[in-house]
Amino acid sequence: MIDDLDRIMAIMETAFDPQWGEAWTRAQVAGSLSLPTTYYYFVRANEEEEPVGFALVRAAPGEEELLLIAVQPEFRGAGLAKRLLEQFTEAARERGAERIFLEMRENNPAEKLYRTFGFETIGRRPKYYSKPDGSRIDAITFGLCI
Ligand SMILES: CC(C)(COP(=O)(O)OP(=O)(O)OC[C@H]1O[C@@H](n2cnc3c(N)ncnc32)[C@H](O)[C@@H]1OP(=O)(O)O)[C@@H](O)C(=O)NCCC(=O)NCCS
Repeated sequence: MIDDLDRIMAIMETAFDPQWGEAWTRAQVAGSLSLPTTYYYFVRANEEEEPVGFALVRAAPGEEELLLIAVQPEFRGAGLAKRLLEQFTEAARERGAERIFLEMRENNPAEKLYRTFGFETIGRRPKYYSKPDGSRIDAITFGLCI
């Protein structure tokens, strides 16, 4: 039987470009899902079908972090990631969070999505991510009061 870990991994495998090394392994996602402070959201293109996008988040008192967001390539540009951010924001607010944040590799085109949603740059971690080829990329931290 397909479970939510399978659903997340099916989207993960098609959504992330391997050159950046951003996709999580099944063990990493399973480890995260085993924590009581991890939440996830799905989005479907059609209600009867399997999900085509997901968001994985980590809650802490007062603030929550978007760990991953992904939509399968053939379903992009239709507002599905925005819907995931809306679900996350609403749930975080209900859990009492006042701020959400995320870290993104510099120059990820997803920046447009985050800025459109209202996130602002709040920090930079130099050479934070390692690419599979060994080179390093800065992480940009975005925050949004909700
Ligand atoms: C980033 C991602 C989740 C966006 O999904 P999506 O469903 O296409 O996004 P949406 O359709 O909801 O876009 C919402 C807004 O962001 C913009 N946007 C989203 N992705 C964009 C991209 N790759 N390039 C340019 N603009 C983008 C859209 O134009 C839209 O803006 P608008 O409302 O002004 O038209 C998707 O491209 C993806 O899965 N990328 C690979 C995984 C990844 O890098 N995730 C982020 C790091 S964890």
